[in-house]
Amino acid sequence: MNNSVIILAAGKGTRMKSTLPKVLHKISGFPMLYFAIKEAKKLSNDVTVVLYHQAELVQKTMESYFDDVNYVIQDHANYPGTGGAVMNITTKHDKVLVLNGDMPLVEASELEKFFELDTDIVMSVIKMDDSSGYGRVVIDGESVEKIVEEKDASEQEKAIKTVNAGIYLFANGMMDTYLPKLSNDNAQDEYYLTDVIELAKNDGFKIAPLYVSEENFKGVNSKYDLSNAEEIMQRRIKKNFMMAGVIFRLPDTTYIDADVEIEGESIIENGVTLLCGSKIIESHIKANSVIEDAEIISSDVGPMARVRPGSKLMDTHIGNYVEVKKSILKGVKAGHLAYLGDAEIDVGTNIGAGTITCNYDGKNKYKTKIGKNVFIGSDTQIVAPVTIEDNVLIAAGTTVSKNIKSGALAISRTDMKTVDGFFSKFFKD
Ligand code: UD1
Ligand code: MG
Repeated sequence: MNNSVIILAAGKGTRMKSTLPKVLHKISGFPMLYFAIKEAKKLSNDVTVVLYHQAELVQKTMESYFDDVNYVIQDHANYPGTGGAVMNITTKHDKVLVLNGDMPLVEASELEKFFELDTDIVMSVIKMDDSSGYGRVVIDGESVEKIVEEKDASEQEKAIKTVNAGIYLFANGMMDTYLPKLSNDNAQDEYYLTDVIELAKNDGFKIAPLYVSEENFKGVNSKYDLSNAEEIMQRRIKKNFMMAGVIFRLPDTTYIDADVEIEGESIIENGVTLLCGSKIIESHIKANSVIEDAEIISSDVGPMARVRPGSKLMDTHIGNYVEVKKSILKGVKAGHLAYLGDAEIDVGTNIGAGTITCNYDGKNKYKTKIGKNVFIGSDTQIVAPVTIEDNVLIAAGTTVSKNIKSGALAISRTDMKTVDGFFSKFFKD
């Protein structure tokens, strides 16, 4: 860990056309900058993030994920540009890897390759059919000569297909030597970090190109790029699970946040959404179900079920159109059409169709406790707070508004009436 990392995240991200800073746009449940910091921390104990636009919001958001990252504010008014961004940063180590905050797909394993080359500067290069928008890299054999920004490039330089991906490793004091020598004498009046390359080259230092994949090193500049990055990240997440033994039916139709855990030989059917904080262990999630920050253990859920935050299902069956919120279900069957909120339900209990825990009175939320082997008939409303003990039978259509003792039957119904011959009188006479 003898390396420092600087992550550039001060830019405005104009092309995102958003009030949210670019690096806070999310893929797979996390802001783009989160991924850059997470990978950087695998390589370094000295990570610095450069901020400027909406710096406070970006820093506060990142502090909710990481606690040992340095933040510096760029002197953007006097030193705009990627070179300005890294000026006056004191790093712990001499080797400094510079990353962009808008490259969420780059993994630490790929960044390690930068450290394998013994040279003064390593810079990432992508071969692209359409190089527009990128800095062009002028390469002579094995050595990089210079980088020309598109706005400063001649027609001949614009035709170059090797572009600067924007990640660099500076060693041997290259930053300390050359950052003070940068000028802003260019088309954008900015201090370009890329100019360090030519200055170092002219002094005889070695600059090695490291060819990297377009897919993982392409920066996100627009919402279109964001959706492409999302697709790549999703494929990656699902592939990892499949390699670990999880079965996916039509994986391209499922969505899984980056921190979701799936264990054992679980099955994830088409159209399933698994959101942040969810844990699926040895379970079967059927088509079009949504799981949000919930734990599902040895259970089957769906099709078309929704399990909301704070829920834990163990050895439980949840069928279609069942919604569970902040509830613990152990050995429960709820086959269809139910809302179970703020409830604790124990082994052997069967929840009939149309059962609703009335957990909210318009002001507060209340808890429902249901014991073992309770049979709840269809269309039962359970008005919380309430406790139903073990071995209880609740008749269909009952409104449970009092605690029920073990062994009892609960029924609340108005008697049904029939009126003979009413039909023909009503419709035909
Ligand atoms: C930069 C490179 C270009 C490369 C491209 C790859 C320069 C001069 N050019 O161009 O050669 O092909 O990246 O994507 O470096 N940033 C700051 N402060 C600033 C300006 C930018 O922190 O004053 C940050 C941005 O937030 C972003 C990164 O630096 O994370 C790159 O900035 P961007 O404006 O996207 O640079 P490009 O013009 O794309
Ligand atoms: Mg860019």
